Amino acid sequence: MDKIRIVGGTPLRGVIPISGAKNAALPLMAACLLTDDKLTLCNMPYLADIVTMANLLAQHGVDLNIDGIHQGRAITLCAGHIHNLTAPYEVVRTMRASVLVLGPLLARFGAARVSLPGGCAIGTRPIDLHLKALEQMGAEIELIDGYINAKVPHRLKGTDIQFEKVSVGATENILMAACLAEGETILRNAAQEPEVADLAYCLQAMGAKIEGIGTSELRIQGVNSLHGCTYTVIADRIEAGSFAAAAAITGGDVELVGIRASLMQSVIEKFAEAGIGITETERGLRVVGTGRKIQGIDIMTAPYPGFPTDMQAQMMAMLSMAEGASMVTETIFENRYMHVPELIRMGTNINVHGSSAMIRGVSSLRGAEVMATDLRASLSLVIAALAAEGETIIHRVYHLDRGYERLEEKLAACGATIERISERATAKAEAA
Ligand code: EPZ
Repeated sequence: MDKIRIVGGTPLRGVIPISGAKNAALPLMAACLLTDDKLTLCNMPYLADIVTMANLLAQHGVDLNIDGIHQGRAITLCAGHIHNLTAPYEVVRTMRASVLVLGPLLARFGAARVSLPGGCAIGTRPIDLHLKALEQMGAEIELIDGYINAKVPHRLKGTDIQFEKVSVGATENILMAACLAEGETILRNAAQEPEVADLAYCLQAMGAKIEGIGTSELRIQGVNSLHGCTYTVIADRIEAGSFAAAAAITGGDVELVGIRASLMQSVIEKFAEAGIGITETERGLRVVGTGRKIQGIDIMTAPYPGFPTDMQAQMMAMLSMAEGASMVTETIFENRYMHVPELIRMGTNINVHGSSAMIRGVSSLRGAEVMATDLRASLSLVIAALAAEGETIIHRVYHLDRGYERLEEKLAACGATIERISERATAKAEAA
């Protein structure tokens, strides 16, 4: 397994291009199943999760063409010859977003067999809300041998659905299914994340009839079929926030190109509260960490437009060197503090009490060998390592590769001392 080596202490200065959003790209790829026409997605990030989704769709029978390697890469998908309605365990267990093929397959083909995702590092993450809503739309669902066996005798029927809790994935799955259902579907207490809106706008471009985009109530009039389109994925607000935290903790000055402030207001407000100015430029956002120390603040994660849970670990790392104390409360997932023991190895002063963590700012951090445990936790270790004295080695960086495109390249371009130590290189060195 690859490792990443960082020597901290250099303020980040320069320009970082923000890639397309992973959490928009994944449902958008699944949406190709709703039509036999070509769907072309631009500004696609090159990430392990995108490759996993591409492989999943290919085994259903989707034809994929990838044009370009990085920045602005386009992927064309065509579900004109679907021959397999099963999403197998060996794929679904590596990426929970695989469950997003369920709604589209059911809506277009009337049947689907999708492995239950199983647990995940940050929580049990059930999919009961997805299944309950599909049953309300007329799907017959059985759980057999760890698989969801779903079928629709005729056609999914639109209905009035009230989600018991806000769920990004459930909103996306049912939104896609409703586009081809008979009649009107109302989704109440729907997720309002920008990635959900991005999916809705793309579905509209494919001929879907959707009202209320960006609000907690979506109304969808089912249509008989959808056509293809070309759609550009929004920028990744979590990647942008992650690099903003890195610029802040190193006392740097970085321009994040391609991101819009409107996608991350709650994050910008929290940075401002901590004394870090994030201002809009013509190309994106500028983060200036020089001058005053970071101030301790309180953060409580919440569904959009609240503070995103996917930024919690990164902010905790940044606040570990703040003046004073900070309280972080995680309300979305039940086990999203696995970065804490690793950050403590680097000299942070953090105490977790249930769903809250008290962070007392320290004046310096020390590099150490640490282990990535999940995608966003791994970025919190990078952020701490960039500010720590000495060398940090981060193990299990495959977690990072799921959600951050060309991380080392982007940070090195801003002056960071960062390199990837590939497993092959390590083996060769040891053999020598
Ligand atoms: C999406 O996951 C994101 N992933 C997550 O990002 C993100 O943390 C999460 O939304 C919350 O914003 C993608 O978009 C691919 P949820 P999702 O359904 O859809 C519970 C990252 O780091 N729940 O909104 O799986 C669930 O357990 C990832 O990029 C049910 O109880 O999240 C959680 O406590 C991590 N029953 C809460 O709702 C259900 O049927 C929110 O989950 C579904 C969810």
